[in-house]
Amino acid sequence: MNKICIIGGCGHVGIPLGLAFAGKGFEVVLLDISQKSVDLINSKKLPFLEEGAEELLEKHSGKNLFATTDCNVVKDAEIVVFVTGTPVDEHHNPKIKEVLNVVKQYLPYMNENQLVILRSTIYPNCTEIVDNLLKEKFGKSKLAFCPERILQGRGIEEIYNLPQIVSATSEGALLEAKKLFSKIAPKVICLDVKEAELAKLMTNAWRYLEFAIANQFYMMTEKEGLDFYKIYNAMRDDYPRAQHFARAGLAAGPCLFKDTMQLSAFSKNQFFLGQSAMLVNEGLPNFLVSCLEQKMKTLKNKKIALLGLSFKPDNDDTRESLSFKIIKELEFKLAHVIVSDVYDKNTIDYKTALKEADGVILGVPHKEYLSIKPEIPFVDCYNVWR
Ligand SMILES: NC(=O)c1ccc[n+]([C@@H]2O[C@H](COP(=O)([O-])OP(=O)(O)OC[C@H]3O[C@@H](n4cnc5c(N)ncnc54)[C@H](O)[C@@H]3O)[C@@H](O)[C@H]2O)c1
Repeated sequence: MNKICIIGGCGHVGIPLGLAFAGKGFEVVLLDISQKSVDLINSKKLPFLEEGAEELLEKHSGKNLFATTDCNVVKDAEIVVFVTGTPVDEHHNPKIKEVLNVVKQYLPYMNENQLVILRSTIYPNCTEIVDNLLKEKFGKSKLAFCPERILQGRGIEEIYNLPQIVSATSEGALLEAKKLFSKIAPKVICLDVKEAELAKLMTNAWRYLEFAIANQFYMMTEKEGLDFYKIYNAMRDDYPRAQHFARAGLAAGPCLFKDTMQLSAFSKNQFFLGQSAMLVNEGLPNFLVSCLEQKMKTLKNKKIALLGLSFKPDNDDTRESLSFKIIKELEFKLAHVIVSDVYDKNTIDYKTALKEADGVILGVPHKEYLSIKPEIPFVDCYNVWR
């Protein structure tokens, strides 16, 4: 049985991946710096919502899966997978050093026989840089880049059902990575390393652009006093080519924005569509606030409820959510903001929020909010309250 150590293993990518491998009989160690997440996993609890993960955790935790903060576990692994975060800096440039520093941190515990897999979304050429690090240390390297493409919250189902892109810096590493992923994925697609790095970034940038065009059309039409969704529905009605046309909505989260910015940096800031998408998507919160202001004449001293803090519906993840930008914008307008999210116990219950508020903005359409019929002025760019 192959021993797999996942570094950054208690995060949103690490847990579904670890469980997916454990479910197929691998021995899995989730190595993480977060003692809190490690303790939760070892007591069979998840640090965040993940469909289908609870059953697998119950079944495998303490048997062929455990979590730890002890770096020594790297020594025993046959396969080492890196899934730590890959942020951009305040200038929207990739923080490559953060990726390399994590690899450097674990190099003393690694050995030349291990298959090393980079699974985080990385800036093009990072794999080659890591390859050089390994060669400097061991004289050789067995390195693969196999990007994660799951939809957050539905990771387990997607790992088992989506094709896996696999690339490597040597034939040997490619063969081993292909063999490994064919145990959990229905199909393995091989690319050269740089192609794979770009395939991941381009997948996310493309989705970010899809949301941007919907948001641009939404703002364009609503500004004219038109009903965007009347036009949207007509465009899609029995028209096959428009079926995938996204709805308007806050396009945020830990991946789409930063990956579009990484691609922009890679193209030497010539990725004009990506930059424009950023302006459109990041401008939607301001637009929503100004729509409410128009309806209410002024927001000054008004109580405004914001429903939904997470970056996507029916999920508890608030990382990089644009709801926070709405709150800031409302505060600039001197409104009193009442924040409610069904997944955040520290916020007020939404029914109370609606009772107290003079106006409301729908930040995220969690299923609990779909049947609300607001009796106060509201803004809902998802069209669930109309
Ligand atoms: N979240 C997604 O759905 C998703 C999907 C595809 C790709 N990705 C990519 O995967 C990568 C990870 O994203 P994520 O959402 O899992 O992030 P995350 O923040 O949820 O998880 C990262 C984990 O790494 C741990 N960590 C940080 N530094 C560490 C270190 N030095 N040693 C050990 N552990 C460390 C953190 O404690 C955390 O548990 C990013 O590159 C992201 O772009 C994410």
